[in-house]
Amino acid sequence: MPFHQRKTLTQFLIEERRRFPDARGDFNALILDVATACKQIARGVAFGALGGMHGSADGAINVQGETQQKLDVLSNQAFIRVSEWGGSLAGMASEEMEQPYQIPAPYPRGKYLLVFDPLDGSSNIDVNVSVGSIFSILRAPEGTGEGGRDVTDTDFLQAGREQVAAGYALYGPTTMLVLTVGNGVHGFTLDPNLYDFMLTHPDMRVPEETQEFAINASNSRFWEPPIRQYVSECLAGKSGSRGKDFNMRWIASMVAEAHRILMRGGVFMYPRDTKDLTKPGRLRLLYEANPIGFIMEQAGGRASTGREPILDVQPTSLHQRIGVVFGSRSEVERIERYHHELPGAELPNPLFNERSLFRLSA
Ligand code: F6P
Repeated sequence: MPFHQRKTLTQFLIEERRRFPDARGDFNALILDVATACKQIARGVAFGALGGMHGSADGAINVQGETQQKLDVLSNQAFIRVSEWGGSLAGMASEEMEQPYQIPAPYPRGKYLLVFDPLDGSSNIDVNVSVGSIFSILRAPEGTGEGGRDVTDTDFLQAGREQVAAGYALYGPTTMLVLTVGNGVHGFTLDPNLYDFMLTHPDMRVPEETQEFAINASNSRFWEPPIRQYVSECLAGKSGSRGKDFNMRWIASMVAEAHRILMRGGVFMYPRDTKDLTKPGRLRLLYEANPIGFIMEQAGGRASTGREPILDVQPTSLHQRIGVVFGSRSEVERIERYHHELPGAELPNPLFNERSLFRLSA
């Protein structure tokens, strides 16, 4: 298709807005600001070692206890600087910041909250493997926003179903922005000449059937029985109960795995396991699981903890972690079924662990 016939992200948003005659345009402005932040990050990532931005940020550790990369810090700043001034936000929360970010005094406050993981999979930066940004937009509770009070952690503790929009940018061989505003999922490719996002993947759907799964198999000894069962059936292939061979992938950038699954189906698992019983999962509910869960559901897929839909989980803290399974609907439903059916699907009580205080066997 010649480039002049393609729809830009701006045109797409304006046309979407016509469905809501009362909309003032704050929401579109916010999405366009986020898209600008993603373009800035795409530039930073593309320069690689030439940009002087490789490596860790002087031994800095983030709130998650992980080493911060220079690009983590820069990407976080890009999100803040580009979105704080426009008047559409009451506050922000980032995977990289312990506390919510307050919109500074000279700027007006607005009716939305922005939640983001500025650079997902950032351990992949220095090895030139795809990384991405993930974001989620919530309504700001009453009392915050225009002329209102500062935001608190509690304002962000909204179930995934409450999201107004969610999306991600993927910095891969091409940069893409994938977005849902609750009306399907649409993919835009960054035109490297115009430096504008162009609609290239309208109405993305997760294929129903799949033969591909993604899991970090080095954790297999810590998995719960339902996940063990599911993976062993996949590995058994044609000769097992599934009667077909499966393929396995692990990029270690969740956003890149989510994109692959949107394009050609599959299932991604970072389930709750017994590796570290203080952490009920690896991924973060607000910055990763909820936005990707919303996208999966809007694309006809499914996202679950294994026990219940991700989007139904009531968050209890800003940086909460959770077990995650998402992708092709029939596979996720199968995994949920195993969680409900298999005896011993519950995690052992940490006090009765093999190496803990009260050993079960004498
Ligand atoms: O944010 C967490 C993350 O970087 C995900 O993008 C990715 O799927 C996961 O961690 C990789 O985990 P592991 O290091 O266990 O492979």
